Amino acid sequence: GNPVSFFEQVGGEETFHRIVARFYKEVKSDEVLLPLYPEEDLGPAEERLRLFLMQYWGGPHTYSDNRGHPRLRMRHVPFKIGPVERDAWLRCMRIAVDEAGLDEAHRKQLWDYMEMAANSLMNSFS
Ligand code: HEM
Repeated sequence: GNPVSFFEQVGGEETFHRIVARFYKEVKSDEVLLPLYPEEDLGPAEERLRLFLMQYWGGPHTYSDNRGHPRLRMRHVPFKIGPVERDAWLRCMRIAVDEAGLDEAHRKQLWDYMEMAANSLMNSFS
């Protein structure tokens, strides 16, 4: 039958809301990441990341209804993402994931994905 998605297993939208809000709270005081954001209001960026992650993990398809195919590599081309930017992103995300209160198996699955995804979006060696 219908396997229960990771999205549902970890608590649905509320959990993703909490994780992405915590991530952006950290971005707001990160001197590497904050200057990359084209808009002063991080609210819309927060919503896009939340909807993307919800969709990726088996939740509603709202991200693609609004934004089309994710094409994340293409969408990150305007931003220089080298090792410093990747590490800053993962630093913020690590706090968010660790504080989300997931059980260890789900925490590890989510974290492994974040590391893989951040590495895959690098577009600079410096
Ligand atoms: C958008 C930076 C990694 C998902 C953005 C934006 C910036 C950015 C500056 C534009 C903000 C906006 O939407 O207005 C970075 C940096 C990363 C990184 C420095 C370091 C590796 C990731 C990862 C994911 C991700 C790993 C997914 C797991 C997204 C999504 C958007 C976005 C979904 C919005 C795309 C759209 O619909 O336009 N990112 N990002 N990013 N990022 Fe990242």
